Amino acid sequence: MINLGILISGRGSNMDAILAAAKAGRMPGVRPAVVISNKPDAAGLRTASEKYGVKTKIVPPEGAKGWDYDRKVVEALEEAGVTPQNGLVCLAGFMRIISPEFVRHYKARILNIHPALLPSFPGLHAQKQAIEYGVKVSGCTVHFVDEGVDSGPVILQKTIPVMEGDSEETLSARILEQEHQVYPEAVRLFSEGRLKVEGRKVRVL
Ligand code: GRF
Repeated sequence: MINLGILISGRGSNMDAILAAAKAGRMPGVRPAVVISNKPDAAGLRTASEKYGVKTKIVPPEGAKGWDYDRKVVEALEEAGVTPQNGLVCLAGFMRIISPEFVRHYKARILNIHPALLPSFPGLHAQKQAIEYGVKVSGCTVHFVDEGVDSGPVILQKTIPVMEGDSEETLSARILEQEHQVYPEAVRLFSEGRLKVEGRKVRVL
């Protein structure tokens, strides 16, 4: 059984999609253990506890940076049973860059979702970057987290066309629908031991 920890900072719609899939029995090898937010007012915290009965925890930075902060998150994860042996950590709109120590602690056990086709448009405002660049296709990417920003091995991607007249909002909304499909799917594949990382590449077994 994989103990799942989800890190959020806000709305938590990807978290909701993952928890819904777990509740519906679509990932039987996953036990949602805890949802952690760095922000006390993250709307996703209520969704996690009220809609799904999942334990939540706020870990405020209080000025701590890098590993000084991340070690508190690791403590909260481990308290909930999310360990480097049997855990999976999903970043779902967690608006902090995690430290190399965190990444090494949960080696190959941290996933992230990004609203663009990586390696295009990493970082913030990916949908706006895509519109301003004028690409005709965009989408989303689930990837393993490495020590860079949005640079880890790609697990799954979904594409969608960029329409003439798309705004950041309309494009983001269509990408988000795809995010909600692809993130739970990646978690399921991970829990079934079907993701094999070979250098930069992830083979789906
Ligand atoms: C999503 O667009 C995700 O791709 C990005 O942050 C946003 C989080 O949205 N990393 P939500 O909190 O999951 O609704």
